[in-house]
Amino acid sequence: MQDKPVALVTGANKGIGLQIAKDLAAHGFTVLVGSRSLKNGEEAAKSVGPDARALQLDVTNQVSVDAAAERIRRELGRLDVLVNNAGISHAGKPLLRKAPAARIVNVSSEAGSLTLNADPANPHRPMFGAVYSPSKTALNAVTLAFAIELESTGIKVNAACPGFTGTDLNNFAGTRTVEQGAREPVRLALLDENGPTGTFSNEDGPLPW
Ligand SMILES: NC(=O)c1ccc[n+]([C@@H]2O[C@H](COP(=O)([O-])OP(=O)(O)OC[C@H]3O[C@@H](n4cnc5c(N)ncnc54)[C@H](OP(=O)(O)O)[C@@H]3O)[C@@H](O)[C@H]2O)c1
Repeated sequence: MQDKPVALVTGANKGIGLQIAKDLAAHGFTVLVGSRSLKNGEEAAKSVGPDARALQLDVTNQVSVDAAAERIRRELGRLDVLVNNAGISHAGKPLLRKAPAARIVNVSSEAGSLTLNADPANPHRPMFGAVYSPSKTALNAVTLAFAIELESTGIKVNAACPGFTGTDLNNFAGTRTVEQGAREPVRLALLDENGPTGTFSNEDGPLPW
């Protein structure tokens, strides 16, 4: 097992995920740049730094998830940080248990907050469509489930909203930069032993579920 901590960011070939990968590399991690397309991942890994490695990973494809987990086990033997930026994956759980103080960050959205969207005064509630927003509501629920399941292990599991960030996801209409969008996920990836678990927050603080 290598000594340097290892982080895996899913969907890290562009957007907020790529910036999270860069920030974690700057904090001394070996970063696995998860990407559906290995070619895109290799390009992105070059921009992350010398200790970044592209990892083919489609989070909806179990064969890809299993192959990625096996490669991490074989080459690195541990996983300290898992940032589920593209979606949820169970890929790293046994590997995360091998790290001394692992962290899981799920990149969620205020769009998935039932409390905020149940409020008729919220001007953004028409955006609560049947697909994207409920997928983030489910991600928040899974965050809490993982946090509870892993409570006794010291592994902390939290959900972060990056805010409305200019990326391909919204045709670059977002008003925040990727550097700003990456801040809360990166903060949660770097939590020390006194940090929280089972929370949902953005850069300004806790968000209602
Ligand atoms: N931008 C915002 O305003 C905003 C606000 C709140 C939350 N978020 C969340 O932030 C996260 C990152 O989004 P973004 O804005 O950075 O969007 P983006 O630039 O479109 O990046 C999305 C990334 O996810 C990857 N991806 C999609 N499906 C995947 C799959 N099945 N397996 C692996 N990777 C997959 C994409 O890969 P390909 O290049 O192969 O498509 C891409 O790398 C998402 O979870 C999003 O919901 C964004």
